[in-house]
Amino acid sequence: VAAAKGDFKHFMQKEIAEQPRALTDVLRGRIDQEAGQVFLDDLKLDTNALRRIDRIYATACGTAWHAGLMAKFMIEHFARVRVEVDYASEFRYREPVLGADALLLAITQSGETVDTLAAMEEARTQGVPSIALVNAIGSQAARVADGGPLYLHAGPEIGVASTKAFTSMLAASYLFALYLGQARGTLTPNQIRPHLQALIELPGKVAQVLESAAPICVQLADRFHHATNALFLGRQANYPIALEGALKLKEISYIHAEGYPAGEMKHGPVALIDEHMPVICIAPRDGIYEKMLSNIEQVKARGGEVIAIGSQGDDLLAAKASHVITVPSTLPLLQPILTVIPLQLLAYEVAVRRGCDVDQPRNLAKSVTVE
Ligand code: G6P
Repeated sequence: VAAAKGDFKHFMQKEIAEQPRALTDVLRGRIDQEAGQVFLDDLKLDTNALRRIDRIYATACGTAWHAGLMAKFMIEHFARVRVEVDYASEFRYREPVLGADALLLAITQSGETVDTLAAMEEARTQGVPSIALVNAIGSQAARVADGGPLYLHAGPEIGVASTKAFTSMLAASYLFALYLGQARGTLTPNQIRPHLQALIELPGKVAQVLESAAPICVQLADRFHHATNALFLGRQANYPIALEGALKLKEISYIHAEGYPAGEMKHGPVALIDEHMPVICIAPRDGIYEKMLSNIEQVKARGGEVIAIGSQGDDLLAAKASHVITVPSTLPLLQPILTVIPLQLLAYEVAVRRGCDVDQPRNLAKSVTVE
């Protein structure tokens, strides 16, 4: 097993580094940039079936559930189909009323998570087709998805904390949303083309972040690894990334961490902020940037130490935050694929400094196959 890690100390570290390759592979054979077209040959639903869909239930657990929150933004934006996002463990017991023209979108790295499989079964008994965004080839979710598996092709993920599978889920969700928009006529090839261009440029941008953020995350981890609490704030498409950053940190470093939509901070978490609380604010220059800046001011006014994830060249943000990690810009709904990278690195470096078992954190399993 040591050999499989190559030059890396941990699988998680290796899998973080593999993301440019994984993102290249999820796109491979699925896009024609010149034609402005997406091809998802593994899907079994034809154009008519895709046109009939009036509601999608994105259902998943853990990190994959965060990908589901992102899929909602993407599908609603590109295909104008409403999306509900459910924890699979809740969905299966809430007697969901799915409706005749619904689609279940199961998202799962392993394809073996028992709650996600049960959600697919619930859909099947209600006559609703399932599509699975799934990494493990030939897994149960891939086999029972009657609308077809949409494989991530991220390669085996060994570290319990999901990294490359997550960013691949986001890219696959983006492809699926474009594909649905294409099938339903909400997007023309001309409208699709810039999105394909941005997807093609993404692996290179991820590689840039991996290189530029790594030394800063080492410094930040040196400074913050004794923290007992951390707060992650983001808005819109970067809110699920706040959740994911907090989950990564708590999973592998055992530091209590919460992710929150920044605008909701005043309704609770603000009470926790003092000089001992690192607050990680995800604030790329997007439509909600000004609002994030004022949330950062609010954190600072209460003595909190702000670590900001922002856009390259943002001097204003650099002046306001105590520490800044910048990422290149891309289209708004792809930006989270870049902003999550420093959060993965930060969690990893903190866990290493705390002497935690990064790849096999206590009490957690890579795949939860029993309830
Ligand atoms: C476990 C893993 C998580 C993962 C979740 C869902 O909790 O530790 O990393 O996100 O299961 O797994 P799945 O294989 O369905 O994506």
